[in-house]
Amino acid sequence: MKITEVRVIVTCPGRNYVVVKVMTDEPGLYGVGDATLNGRELAVAEALEKHIAPLLIGRDPDRVEDTWQYLFRGTYWRGGPVLMTALAGIDMALWDIKGKRANLPLYSLLGGKTREGALCYTHAGGKDNKAVEDSVREKLERGFKVVRAQVSVPKAIGTYGVGGAREAASATWGSGGGTATAPGEALPHEETNWEPTNYLKVVPKLFDHLRSTLGEEVELLHDVHERLNPIQAARLAKELEPYHLFFLEDPLRPEHKESFRLVRSHSTTPIAMGELFHTKYECLPLFTEQLIDYIRCDLGHIGGITEAKKIAALAEPYQIQTAWHGPGDIAPMTHSANVHVDVSIPNFGVQEMVFFSEQVQEGAAGVVRVMSAGVATPLGEAAA
Ligand code: CO
Repeated sequence: MKITEVRVIVTCPGRNYVVVKVMTDEPGLYGVGDATLNGRELAVAEALEKHIAPLLIGRDPDRVEDTWQYLFRGTYWRGGPVLMTALAGIDMALWDIKGKRANLPLYSLLGGKTREGALCYTHAGGKDNKAVEDSVREKLERGFKVVRAQVSVPKAIGTYGVGGAREAASATWGSGGGTATAPGEALPHEETNWEPTNYLKVVPKLFDHLRSTLGEEVELLHDVHERLNPIQAARLAKELEPYHLFFLEDPLRPEHKESFRLVRSHSTTPIAMGELFHTKYECLPLFTEQLIDYIRCDLGHIGGITEAKKIAALAEPYQIQTAWHGPGDIAPMTHSANVHVDVSIPNFGVQEMVFFSEQVQEGAAGVVRVMSAGVATPLGEAAA
């Protein structure tokens, strides 16, 4: 069998997805993958069309690992968000072809089920503590057991994570404020008047409020979104200890791994990190020193399923669990890939999920119905 064509489709609705379709010489057999990189979609599309697609014509689509290495090392200048996202799209499509040929679900090819479904968390947010509480209650009513809570920071316009349902559904980050933008027109998200002092004041108060009104039963987490310096992050993790977070997400910037030692040495709040990483190599220092508890790489930005399996395996002996990135700014195929990996590895922790619009679900029929409230199952089956 041979790859005959690689189609790159940049499409909406709501935001720009980059979909890769790898065609084969077997009639009707093709694979699809997601190569969406929020705000730089066209760079990935060009990399795929101009540089990667020509390399794949005539290759055997069964050789997933070999093709992965060929593309990763073949550039010499390797890694980075653009190339690793392009590679993810190809990797997912090749696994899709393999599954279709074998007539088996991906989780089966990855070793079979370790669990019946993937515990999911979703996003709650609001302008003040009461609004966040209401938002969390609404998610609990929908069946969620784990909820991420974000609150507006006084004087900071456009605080991360408090845009509510619309933001979660359309993932407006970097896409020009919630409205669909033409490819290449996306503007970076800007948080006006970002003030860490105010932020550090309001977040412990939010969780104090949530624990006193919702009790200890609900699992709560919070996303810092890489906006603190090391000593601020250590202070926040320490001050949040009494509220028993499921984890504190992305407390620090991704570049300087040593900073995590400071946070770790000051707090027992579990730490999650990794959505801005692109390879297993970046995860290693955090694993070997056990500086985090959850690794949350984005399958769409680390070269896909092949690399995710390795990252999970590297994390396992260090007792680190997975919490793959699952935002609205990647296409539903990555969410599907997330869940197949989730249910086939031993050290799955939790899965982030968002709700896709009806238009997106229509356009990606068969891949987004994996989501049901609170638990995701690989093929949209009911969890046992
Ligand atoms: Co995050």
